[in-house]
Amino acid sequence: MPSEYHCVKPRSDCSRPSLQWYTRAQNKMRRPNLLLKDIFKCILLVFGVWILYILKLNYTTEECDIKKVHYVDPDRVKRAQKYAQQVLQQECRPRFARTSMARLFEHQYSVDLPPFVKKGPRANEAEYKYDPPFGFRQFSGKVQSLLELLPEHDLPEHLKAKSCRRCVVIGSGGILHGLELGPALNQFDVVIRLNSAPVEGYSEHVGNKTTIRMTYPEGAPLSDFEYYSTDLFVAVLFKSVDFNWLQAMVKNETLPFWVRLFFWKQVAEKIPLQPKHFRILNPVIIKETAFDILQYSEPQSRFWGRDKNVPTIGVIAVVLATHLCDEVSLAGFGYDLSQPRTPLHYFDNLCMAAMNFQTMHNVTTETRLLLKLVKEGVVKDLSGGIHCEF
Ligand SMILES: *[C@@H]1O[C@H](CO)[C@@H](O)[C@H](O)[C@H]1NC(C)=O
Ligand SMILES: *[C@@H]1O[C@H](CO)[C@@H](O)[C@H](O)[C@H]1NC(C)=O
Ligand SMILES: *[C@@H]1O[C@H](CO)[C@@H](O)[C@H](O)[C@H]1NC(C)=O
Repeated sequence: MPSEYHCVKPRSDCSRPSLQWYTRAQNKMRRPNLLLKDIFKCILLVFGVWILYILKLNYTTEECDIKKVHYVDPDRVKRAQKYAQQVLQQECRPRFARTSMARLFEHQYSVDLPPFVKKGPRANEAEYKYDPPFGFRQFSGKVQSLLELLPEHDLPEHLKAKSCRRCVVIGSGGILHGLELGPALNQFDVVIRLNSAPVEGYSEHVGNKTTIRMTYPEGAPLSDFEYYSTDLFVAVLFKSVDFNWLQAMVKNETLPFWVRLFFWKQVAEKIPLQPKHFRILNPVIIKETAFDILQYSEPQSRFWGRDKNVPTIGVIAVVLATHLCDEVSLAGFGYDLSQPRTPLHYFDNLCMAAMNFQTMHNVTTETRLLLKLVKEGVVKDLSGGIHCEF
């Protein structure tokens, strides 16, 4: 059975842990432990469904290898680079992003929202109003013990000291490939990267500076290389075991076997960063993005995923950037669903059509929001996937 797993599963990075789980679980099963047996059956079922899902994805979509199919007009490359330089040379306007958001989303955007969860005697009520990811209701104990481990909860001093900060949020969009914007992106004060989007091998197009790596546990890069020059690791916590994972990462401990079973893919086992580099995203920013700005309905039941009311991490990062920075730019944003055979990401073989299989996010609504932000001049779109100004 394990060797079959090995062959069937298309992602080699996922095959190792399942094997490990299997053998470990099997050792324990020699003891007559019924509960463990049930858990094991349940895991097998989940794995089966997951494999079917992946296979379905692979059979119904073609591969879109960006290095083979992607051609970018050299004139467009020049225009994109020129536009990025223009954006960088414009005067930086203090508080511009925040005040523009407050003007655009009257009563729906809070100018003073702290970006990261802080330790403090007065617990912030808004942070505990909703279940994750919109709040930490019923997790106050876990949050407090995590905060005990985190010595810092703000931007690092050298960034805080700047009177005006320019941020760029780098999305994973295939549109970023070929524009050779790397050197321009490196010039921003704060570079926000999402989930596992890699730098290694792509720095010509995506730069090699990472101020913030924002991710949930399953998205955290597995390669140490991606952390070498990372200032902040910002954790987005969705479920109970995410708190356990973060605690293990901060303490540089091994994640217990039973905790690992609850993740839907392999999670990083070590994050090579000191505790002072870790932050927890303020869940109120997700709540603000979802319910106030995107106007999604609040969770109706425990199965909130079905409501499509969870914003993508990309849009959450854009809203975070407006709270952290004075000027905000985007690169690598925009899913053009009318082009199903174009590459979805700048770093893998998925086609745009794969986006039609996801069930968590409402891409149409998100794109409308980003379009509004670009057209109103609140953010600049450096790769032109949302609205091209070059
Ligand atoms: C980025 O790449 C440049 C040139 O290759 C190198 O000099 C620089 O040290 C790199 N920076 C980081 C943060 O890795
Ligand atoms: C984590 O622990 C390992 C040894 O288990 C050590 O080599 C490594 O430097 C530690 N990492 C951090 C960030 O302290
Ligand atoms: C996305 O949201 C819009 C309203 O904001 C709704 O009309 C549409 O049906 C939603 N799409 C999906 C796929 O849920």
